[in-house]
Amino acid sequence: MATPPYPLNCLKEEKHEDPTLKPRSSSASLFFPIEEGDTPHKELILSLPKETRWLPYVLRLYEGFWWWEGIIPGIIGIQQRFKARPNDILIISFPKSGTTWLKSLTFSIMNRHKYGFTNHPLLRLSPHDCVRFLELIYGQGEESYVESLTSPRLLCCHTPYSCLPDCITTSECRIVYVCRDPKDVLVSAWYMDKNYMPNVPLSFNQAFEVFCEGRSGAGPIWDHILQYWNESLRRPDKFLFLKYEEMMAEPHQNLRKLAEFIRCPFSEEEEKTGVIEQIIELCSFKNLKELDVNKKGEGFSNIENELFFRKGVVGDWKNNMSPEMAERLDEITREKLHGCGLTFSR
Ligand code: A3P
Repeated sequence: MATPPYPLNCLKEEKHEDPTLKPRSSSASLFFPIEEGDTPHKELILSLPKETRWLPYVLRLYEGFWWWEGIIPGIIGIQQRFKARPNDILIISFPKSGTTWLKSLTFSIMNRHKYGFTNHPLLRLSPHDCVRFLELIYGQGEESYVESLTSPRLLCCHTPYSCLPDCITTSECRIVYVCRDPKDVLVSAWYMDKNYMPNVPLSFNQAFEVFCEGRSGAGPIWDHILQYWNESLRRPDKFLFLKYEEMMAEPHQNLRKLAEFIRCPFSEEEEKTGVIEQIIELCSFKNLKELDVNKKGEGFSNIENELFFRKGVVGDWKNNMSPEMAERLDEITREKLHGCGLTFSR
């Protein structure tokens, strides 16, 4: 583990173990086709339009977005049974946009008075065990976990704005959304799946086509981003819209913004004693990637934790697609986001 250049003892150590913080045993993958299983809402799901080109998954069009079949019961569960609390904090993203990083940062900010940096939960638990996905919780009938969390709760999902239940959209709870250049999202998603299922022959070119059509998991990415972008303009008190690229370029500024938004601003004393730097260091790609738990452990849906830490850079698309492909995807992005004020630099 890299050594932070700041004193590690400025925060109290947690004396008691938090029972809600423990590694999750792997459960059956929710990403695979549901035909074999006894899945809630199976009849409805099997009646939805189908996409099978992103091998080996079967995606279905649910309320305007393409989902892995097994994830849809979790989304319906959120829609039907989730009860928002006014001080909930929700991290929301399109998959592969920096969710793991944002989970780590937000968790560290919210809990900085509870844990010291030498015995921090992120040193022994995956960020996905510290902040769990609502779709998986509700898909596995574990909602009592959500109820058992003390407020303010920190939760996460990939659900698009238009699919969120009213209890979230109309409550006082706050939403932090992170987006990323779609080119890097595609590259990240393709490698994730390639490393998860090494024997599945999904070529990058094939993935590129499906992604450009908006028919990859959770797609179309542009609609997902745009919905949250528009809401963040309309209700900046409720939505904080972050960009992966800006968080990389200006971590301090973004961390301050995030802390203020979730009502945990840094004090002058904390600024002086380097607490922001400690959190940035703790949650850095290099630090998290090298931890045993993230190198060896296995998390939800049998996904090895290390798959969430690949390169962690901006612009890896340059190593994976031709300039023509990049221009085509950029053109689609420009067209879809035209006039909304949101752009991705080239
Ligand atoms: P790459 O595949 O481009 O490396 P998500 O968490 O939404 O699944 O996104 C995963 C992407 O975020 C991966 O991108 C991963 O390497 C990157 N990532 C994970 N942890 C990170 C961190 N602490 N800092 C920066 N990027 C991180």
